[in-house]
Amino acid sequence: MPYSKKVLDHFKNPRNQGSMKNPDAVAKEGNPVCGDVMKMYLKIGRKKSGEEFIEDIKFETLGCAAAIAVSSALTEIAKGKILDEALKINKDNIVEDLGGLPAPKVHCSMLGVDALHKAIKNYLKN
Ligand code: FES
Repeated sequence: MPYSKKVLDHFKNPRNQGSMKNPDAVAKEGNPVCGDVMKMYLKIGRKKSGEEFIEDIKFETLGCAAAIAVSSALTEIAKGKILDEALKINKDNIVEDLGGLPAPKVHCSMLGVDALHKAIKNYLKN
């Protein structure tokens, strides 16, 4: 299975890539399969209802094309979500959103999701 058009678009024009000044939460995650690394930055806002949500999100990665595309798509999906909803995002949601990934690349989708969940948990711990 080749990369979908959407994967290639996210890879060529990654959304929300880069670092963030004064983030509320940060997490770093490595992929044990390939050694690639991802860093996720979150800015947390509070809705009028009191619920906390992802106001802004950025990622940096030393990773493959699939990892970049997955992280870019993930940041678009996660932005604006309340923290409980963002914790429910899983790799299948992202792979589906991207129109699939070649089978050997499915493990790459874990990197961003794990980094996002870790960043939220880091925030909730503090
Ligand atoms: Fe390492 Fe894709 S090969 S994340």
